[in-house]
Amino acid sequence: MDNANLQFICSTEKLLNLDYLICHIEYRENKSTAVIFYYDGQAYAYLNNCRHRQRRLDCEADTVFDANGQLLSCSMHGYVFEPTTGECMIPPRAGKKLQSLRIVEQDGALYFADERVRMINPF
Ligand code: FES
Repeated sequence: MDNANLQFICSTEKLLNLDYLICHIEYRENKSTAVIFYYDGQAYAYLNNCRHRQRRLDCEADTVFDANGQLLSCSMHGYVFEPTTGECMIPPRAGKKLQSLRIVEQDGALYFADERVRMINPF
């Protein structure tokens, strides 16, 4: 990946001290938000857009995780997603998956490495 195509998100230290980070982006030229978090030592990023009815996962709550902090959960109707794959777990076999976004860790920082994404408010 050419470094010119990397878009700075935040330091790894910052994200390690947060449950997750929401940042404003354009995805395929449409305004949206992304949710970024560490899970089992690995950083993940998804479009913050529930695959049920296209609402933000945190549209009705101040979190994108379930009560145990283990699974991504939409606060609108309760769809639950596996954090490492984005697969919908509840309801089962819904066949829906959160849109993953490519990120990289480099020199103590996280970057979007996804040509579909443009950062609106870098930290
Ligand atoms: S909009 Fe997310 S569960 Fe319905």
